[in-house]
Amino acid sequence: MQEWEKALAEAVRLLHNARYVVALVGAGLSQESGIPTFRGPGGLWTRYGEPPMDGYQRFLRDPRAYWEEQLRQETAGPRAELMQAIAQARPNPGHLALVDLERRGVLKCTITQNVDNLHREAGSQRLIEIHGNRTLLRCISCGLRLPRKEFVVREIPPHCPECGGIIKGDGVMFGEPIPKEWLEACYAETARCDCMLLIGTSGTVYPAAGFPQIVKMRGGSLIEFNPLETHLTPLCDVVVRASAAVALPRLVQMLSAEG
Ligand code: APR
Repeated sequence: MQEWEKALAEAVRLLHNARYVVALVGAGLSQESGIPTFRGPGGLWTRYGEPPMDGYQRFLRDPRAYWEEQLRQETAGPRAELMQAIAQARPNPGHLALVDLERRGVLKCTITQNVDNLHREAGSQRLIEIHGNRTLLRCISCGLRLPRKEFVVREIPPHCPECGGIIKGDGVMFGEPIPKEWLEACYAETARCDCMLLIGTSGTVYPAAGFPQIVKMRGGSLIEFNPLETHLTPLCDVVVRASAAVALPRLVQMLSAEG
């Protein structure tokens, strides 16, 4: 039995004793769907450099320039690479394992930092997309979310059909406040959580990286699924040093074997 499988056996014990399990998911879960991570080996920011931290402020200053970039079909650079990868991506066994855990009643909620829509495609129901969803647009005034595919851009910048506010991509930009109701939902889930699965996240970006710390401070347990060490590793009770696409299905197998 490999090291990570021994860790999984310990994870199963923690899950049996837990009452409210929540998953915090990052880009690493989608890595085996062909979507690059942001940090670490091969990450987008590792290769292209971190983007400016004031993207949202730039958008507010010039929404027209933002939309002109959105409508330009770039072929190179981090945004083009990410969009091309997401367009071809499908849920992997890690996404499907989370759906299985949810259907078994083991997993109560998934908080994902990923905007790639793969959790919805896989069938996750109890899902909070804390950084938004790239298949949607959002009004920055009333918060209305619209499917990007069905929206016809008749003016730049486009305005909300409900309130006339300016519309942008649903994805939360650097410098953009996370919509209040999303954040409140995350803190509510975190407050109920006594065991958090940290799946494919470097634990770098707040407020998401703060949720595991809250769970730990309240006496809960943390289980990390990541081939590499992260900022959150020192807080974890169990560390499964493997790809989430391999370890999560194995976790489901071990839980099923116990009946
Ligand atoms: N299985 C599990 N974890 C993996 C895998 C895998 N197959 N491959 C890579 N990882 C891990 C990496 O080791 C790393 O710790 O996934 C993590 C990805 O970290 P980041 O690229 O920092 O992604 P994330 O934590 O989701 O970033 C948070 O930062 O740029 C913003 O908005 C962006 O939502 C993103 C946020």
